[in-house]
Amino acid sequence: MKIGIIGGAGYVGLVSGACFSEFGNLVICVDKDQKKISSIKRGILPIYEPGLEELIKKNVKLKRLFFTKDVQQAVKNADAVFIAVGTPPSRRGDGHADLTYVYAAAEEIASHIDSYTVIVNKSTVPIGTARKVQQIIRKKNPKADFDIASNPEFLREGSAIEDFMRPDRVVIGVEKKSAENVLRKIYNPLYIIETPMVVTNLETAELIKYAANSFLSVKISFINEISALCEKVGADVNVVAKGIGMDKRIGGKFLKAGPGYGGSCFPKDTRAIIKIAQENDVALRIVEAAVEANLNQKLRMVEKIRKALGSEKGKTIAVLGVTFKPETDDMREAPALTILPFLIEGGAKLRIHDPQGMKNAKIFIPEDEVKVKYVANPYEAALGADAIVLMTEWNEYRSLNLDEIKNLMKGNAFIDLRNVYEVDEMKKNGFKYVSVGR
Ligand code: UGA
Repeated sequence: MKIGIIGGAGYVGLVSGACFSEFGNLVICVDKDQKKISSIKRGILPIYEPGLEELIKKNVKLKRLFFTKDVQQAVKNADAVFIAVGTPPSRRGDGHADLTYVYAAAEEIASHIDSYTVIVNKSTVPIGTARKVQQIIRKKNPKADFDIASNPEFLREGSAIEDFMRPDRVVIGVEKKSAENVLRKIYNPLYIIETPMVVTNLETAELIKYAANSFLSVKISFINEISALCEKVGADVNVVAKGIGMDKRIGGKFLKAGPGYGGSCFPKDTRAIIKIAQENDVALRIVEAAVEANLNQKLRMVEKIRKALGSEKGKTIAVLGVTFKPETDDMREAPALTILPFLIEGGAKLRIHDPQGMKNAKIFIPEDEVKVKYVANPYEAALGADAIVLMTEWNEYRSLNLDEIKNLMKGNAFIDLRNVYEVDEMKKNGFKYVSVGR
């Protein structure tokens, strides 16, 4: 199959393009950003995602994966064209997703459709967007032979390739059997490994994406609120999560207490679904509560750090990890961006380390002679620190040489916001150890 991907140098576009070509399809990724396209061609990716670089190099070499600025090249003779452009939160700040790029993509595709093509929305979009895209294309090119589909992605940053290659399910929203058949063919290698396909109408597919992300956000906020209760009553949230997660009706995933969820999806998608619901006179009170609980959790972490230090004024804090999760360089809505400014404001000096995120972090929390220093490794961060704050659970922070860390520090507070270490072990090691919900 020949596939075009609009927004092919973005996160979803790149991962989808690489994986579709790995399935054996011919894929043309097109992106407006000439700089990104040229650097990808030179083998330099605009994002960090484990395994992606190798996969792209391999498929480029096999001549199954191409990058271009030319939309026509991607749409010409294509069986399917995926729209995978960004849908950032609208500048109006009203919770809506900004669909400018999606509609612009539809306009651009329209005039180049030269044979039967399925136009597939992969970006996370409000319910009704696929139909809008259909109208745009029809208006611009009434003769175009095409069908519309919605095929939301469920990729997690850091494990996107695995999620794409071995998904729990593939969701396909279509109006016509012909469109379903094209998508089934494209995903055929997944059919062989018995991946379930949920084939439904356009609106349902679009809502599944928002409902999935909202539900996962609710799960995280739920366990984070339970973590606060655990701290008061002397329970251990890790064991509570394990104990409830073993019930198959609940499931153990996304029940890790922490500093609150972040990233480019959960915060944006929860706000968007609340907005969509409001416009339809429906109250999504549970999702609203999850959003509120998430903010509370981040603020609760600030208090936790303060309490462990007495006060942050004049104290040196080693921050381990700033990205919203490990295995990514993405800082979008990272809890660190809420928590750290409070500490800086309160007079703390930060020594920050992150294996991949420091370049992006500096944009939001700039390096500063006195208050903020970025360092090369966790040990350098610990040098002279009154406290360690483990913010993101990168693997390299899971096996720190604790003796060395302690010797390098001035104080002994270790605030583990990801519950990476064992309470007893840390106490035995002489740390004043504080974690979440334990
Ligand atoms: C999320 C979804 O998991 C994907 O299925 C979806 O495709 C994607 O959004 C998207 O809409 O594009 P992602 O944002 O990459 O993926 O990251 P997650 O692994 O879901 O983590 C999100 C946040 O929740 C992180 O800050 C993470 O630390 C936090 N989290 C996650 C917890 O605090 N506890 C958990 O148990 C799990």
